[in-house]
Amino acid sequence: MRICMASAEFAPFAKTGGLGDVVAALSQNLHQLGHDARVLIPYYARIRNAGLDPQPIDNLADMHMQLGDRMVRYSILQASLPGGDMPLFLLHCPEFYGRTGIYSQEDDEFLRFVLLSRAAIEMCQRMGFAPHIMHCNDWQTALIPLYLRSTYAWDTLFADTRSVLTIHNIGYQGMFPAWVLGRLHLAGAEHHLHQDDLKEGVINFLKTGIMYADLVTTVSPTYAREILGAEYGMGLDHLLRQRGQGFVGILNGVDYNEWDPSHDELIPANYGAEDLSGKATCKRKLMQELGLRVDAGRPLIGIVSRLVGQKGLDLVRTVVPRLLLRTPFSLAVLGSGASRYEDAFAALENHFRGQVAFFRGYNEKLAHWIEAGADMFLMPSRYEPCGLNQMYSLRYGTVPIVRETGGLADSVEQIDPDTGSGTGILFRDYDEAGLEWALVTALGLYRDEDLWHKIMQNGMARDFSWQTQTARYVDLFRQLGSRQ
Ligand code: ADP
Ligand code: GLC
Repeated sequence: MRICMASAEFAPFAKTGGLGDVVAALSQNLHQLGHDARVLIPYYARIRNAGLDPQPIDNLADMHMQLGDRMVRYSILQASLPGGDMPLFLLHCPEFYGRTGIYSQEDDEFLRFVLLSRAAIEMCQRMGFAPHIMHCNDWQTALIPLYLRSTYAWDTLFADTRSVLTIHNIGYQGMFPAWVLGRLHLAGAEHHLHQDDLKEGVINFLKTGIMYADLVTTVSPTYAREILGAEYGMGLDHLLRQRGQGFVGILNGVDYNEWDPSHDELIPANYGAEDLSGKATCKRKLMQELGLRVDAGRPLIGIVSRLVGQKGLDLVRTVVPRLLLRTPFSLAVLGSGASRYEDAFAALENHFRGQVAFFRGYNEKLAHWIEAGADMFLMPSRYEPCGLNQMYSLRYGTVPIVRETGGLADSVEQIDPDTGSGTGILFRDYDEAGLEWALVTALGLYRDEDLWHKIMQNGMARDFSWQTQTARYVDLFRQLGSRQ
């Protein structure tokens, strides 16, 4: 199949969270299966030194696009990914993507991704590439389905194209004031936008995608069920319910080329299920590195996360200090985000020197290291569309402690101490008592060495590889094609 994907992130070059991992792994798996997958991402300033060696493409240089009163010049470059032959297309437009971060707080943020969305379509046109599937990801590229039905509807190149929108997180919808409408060039399709929103002076990109994509997916079956209801649907549940069969959940996979302790090059020692001695080395070195008291017998809990409300950190900052006063364990936290959480973890580190370490920032190596060196991995999310770290944790023999929601519920199985089955601890209620119960239970089970070892082995044997999940996407893509 011919598949065009547009995304704001692509790991490891442009990543703030799981979106980057997922788009990179899914597209490369599609490519390996013999599909012609072409991914377009912005050529952010931070990618310039990534060694991608981007080359200009005939016919895709010196392009321009009118966005309201602004004429934007851009070109599309082609890069080759190290270790694979899938081409990666980079949207070069310094005035939009020459900024420090991936996302910005500037007034023209919407335009940066309108350009990406329309450039993905125009890239297909210039290449004469007629995609069977146009795969959009999150609000940033969610206008593509409407563009295909309006501004570009004249082009027979897209006669057989079906659009798929994957919602990685319904908490980010891309809501902008209605005046941006004048910059969208929707060719008279303005009446297709949600009219009540317009009356209230708002345009919601993700909502528009949900209304016009031929298929909407999200990243786990449980999250797909959850966002059909008001509690998790963030105002879009009603529209998702209307989609009926046209809305499905597919669990994300894990890229085991990147995330497997037997060959991970970012950790101090490799190990596998048969010989866990390397894991003990990772733990000792991690504790040294982070200034934690080195004690092989003391359980070490890890957190690697964007520090935002979704991730359940309000519970962590109240429950953990209480528990630290009465139970010996250590905590290693890596993340950045809202200052209220950064400050809370910095204070915790100060107060519990040697027991709590907080590394503020984004650090790929440390993320791998914490997965390998910790005994347990904590994700008490308020909501979690899929979550990747709990699946990484399982492979690293690091027992996940998670809230039973979204993809966490779909990938972690509750431990039964009587039978030794299960892979982690799940708690249901999002409250302090729930998290406290989960932590106390985990720390208690840890003391039973044989049982703990069995649980680690259970997790390490689980397989969440992308091969299986990619096949599910392909099935859906094919069904869409035959429904024409
Ligand atoms: P989300 O996409 O909501 O952030 P996921 O669990 O799907 O959550 O994916 C998070 C990804 O981002 C994981 O690969 C994780 O290791 C990575 N990550 C998050 N924060 C950091 C950080 N501070 N440093 C390095 N990697 C991080
Ligand atoms: C989002 C979600 C996360 C998911 C990721 C990749 O950022 O918060 O749960 O794993 O996207 O789909």
